[in-house]
Amino acid sequence: YTAQIDASDIEKGTYPHFMLKEIDEQPFVMRKIINEYQTEDSELKLDKNVRQAMKDCDRIYIIAAGTSYHAGLVGKAFIEKLANIPVEVHIASEFSYNMPLLSVKPLFIFISQSGETADSRAVLVRIKEMGHPALTITNVPGSTLSREADYTLNLYAGPEIAVASTKAYTAQIAVLAILAVDTAKAKCLELDFDPMQELAIVANAMEVLTDQKETIEELARDYLSKTRNAFFIGRSTDYYVCMEAALKLKEISYIQAEGFAGGELKHGTIALIEEGTPVIAISTQENVNYSIRGNVQEVVARGANDMVISMKGLEQDTDAFVIPQVHELLTPLVSVVPMQLLAYYAALHRDCDVDKPRNLAKSVTVE
Ligand code: G6P
Repeated sequence: YTAQIDASDIEKGTYPHFMLKEIDEQPFVMRKIINEYQTEDSELKLDKNVRQAMKDCDRIYIIAAGTSYHAGLVGKAFIEKLANIPVEVHIASEFSYNMPLLSVKPLFIFISQSGETADSRAVLVRIKEMGHPALTITNVPGSTLSREADYTLNLYAGPEIAVASTKAYTAQIAVLAILAVDTAKAKCLELDFDPMQELAIVANAMEVLTDQKETIEELARDYLSKTRNAFFIGRSTDYYVCMEAALKLKEISYIQAEGFAGGELKHGTIALIEEGTPVIAISTQENVNYSIRGNVQEVVARGANDMVISMKGLEQDTDAFVIPQVHELLTPLVSVVPMQLLAYYAALHRDCDVDKPRNLAKSVTVE
């Protein structure tokens, strides 16, 4: 296997950091994925063996670590809602100790940017010994997880150099959406969701957001340049994006950050809110918009410095930032972009090494 890498992919060009370049590349990656997973007749193009494996299984086990785990949580929603297959998402390092009782016909999906994460590989080796089928979704087709699994789906995100993963996360979610729709079609399920059309809308929305860096930089300066901690709250799929937003902020700015489910606040976390604590709320889902705004009021009443990021159509005058409207299943692809930029600018304002944060490695090959 020889990697096909274009020199421009591994150089920063005019960008100060790889992370910023990779955030900006996301609309192109969406369009690349649309092209790669589509035939000339606009049909979905997927390995027929993957299609069959998805049709044959009775339950899917997604195994991943870090950012890829967060993408898996979003993927679970797609696969369950569109393809009608139950999905469990597991942190790779925990799966080995607490292996759940498996279904009769499990299919394992390994999500890994690098394809080299040792925690995920340990699970792959174990389940192959047990004789179960495995699909790897990775950015590196020749990687260990790709070679050792039965099937591979490529992310086509191009090399990701910054330690904090950005474009691989959105690529993973896009590919999982395509996989879910392909399975739904193969199972002749009813579907009113055209993934390619919706992903094209997402790509445009991402561009609108990456053009608003100055606004996000100001928000990062105002809310995050001095703080010790920060909380992200959301409900439903917004909660998964909150987990990813908190991870980004922790990784590169060293601010203690956590993503919480809005409804869980009252069960503990709200005790942490003090005068000036930044609380960033994401609201992109109509069915939870009212409740999450209730949560915002609760934290504001305790002194929190709130920042609401909402989707067009659900916005209120006081919201800090409004993202363009996209299909409700795909909002994580768009709402994560300002979160990535917030983390990036917070790190810059705090003089942190954005591309190479302390104590972290891009690919962790030890368990
Ligand atoms: C490391 C990286 C994270 C990444 C995780 C999983 O911890 O620093 O950014 O999300 O590994 O990596 P993978 O390559 O398996 O997606």
